[in-house]
Amino acid sequence: MASRVLLLGLLAITCFITLASAQSLTPLQDFCVADLNSPVTVNGFICKDPKLVDANDFFFSGLNITGNTSNPFGSAITPVTVLQFPGLNTLGVAMGRFDYAPGGVIRPHTHPRATEIYTVIEGTTEVGFITNNSTNNHLFKKVLQKGDVFVFPQGLVHFHRNVGQGPAVSLFSFNSQNPGLIIIPPNLFGSEPLIPTEVLTKSFQVSKSVVAEIESQFKGMA
Ligand SMILES: *[C@@H]1O[C@H](CO)[C@@H](O)[C@H](O)[C@H]1NC(C)=O
Ligand SMILES: *[C@@H]1O[C@H](CO)[C@@H](O)[C@H](O)[C@H]1NC(C)=O
Ligand SMILES: *[C@@H]1O[C@H](CO)[C@@H](O)[C@H](O)[C@H]1NC(C)=O
Ligand SMILES: *[C@@H]1O[C@H](CO)[C@@H](O)[C@H](O)[C@H]1NC(C)=O
Repeated sequence: MASRVLLLGLLAITCFITLASAQSLTPLQDFCVADLNSPVTVNGFICKDPKLVDANDFFFSGLNITGNTSNPFGSAITPVTVLQFPGLNTLGVAMGRFDYAPGGVIRPHTHPRATEIYTVIEGTTEVGFITNNSTNNHLFKKVLQKGDVFVFPQGLVHFHRNVGQGPAVSLFSFNSQNPGLIIIPPNLFGSEPLIPTEVLTKSFQVSKSVVAEIESQFKGMA
């Protein structure tokens, strides 16, 4: 009996340790440069052999480059997550740059795994996030000038747009090396295959033709 209790206890501890090792906020080694090409799939990326790691694994260059905003949204994202910068693996941080043409928009989106902190370094943007249903889908919105900082809480839908006369630039950081990105409009109206029309007509309380029209905007554009 006692040994069975001990065994169960050991099992529980083992499970706990396994879960803990999956957390990006509690790395179990100094670094674990991601091997992005490994066929082994774990919760994250496996580590490159530490003997083969060099300074370039902890270096990224390119946030000085203006993103190309010649697209229907008038904006560009330059992400610096573990996918672009393998040295971030297990460290629980990431960052990046947004460029906006005048009037440019970063569409409503969510990062399922991270809070985002955001600052304007050029121009003027308007940013906002929406709270959950039980707090009445309240919109928190603010116009930001150079040097202003805003935070988007983990998982909540948010957006930004350039409300100045010229181009705008902002920088952002995440408390995850792999924050995730779900862009709401193409997620709902440009999925492959499409969400059943009946789900969208009932959810949005509109006709099939309205759903079809929105869907047609996303053909071939993700
Ligand atoms: C950005 O920085 C890199 C390396 O520091 C440099 O080679 C490149 O010319 C710079 N590009 C621009 C557009 O400033
Ligand atoms: C910017 O993107 C547009 C559309 O993809 C492309 O036609 C144009 O050549 C790009 N400009 C630069 C400077 O890369
Ligand atoms: C909605 O957000 C409020 C404020 O953070 C929180 O107290 C509440 O638990 C949330 N409700 C749900 C259903 O997540
Ligand atoms: C969403 O919020 C509204 C208004 O507070 C409430 O009437 C409704 O029951 C909520 N829906 C769900 C699914 O929680």
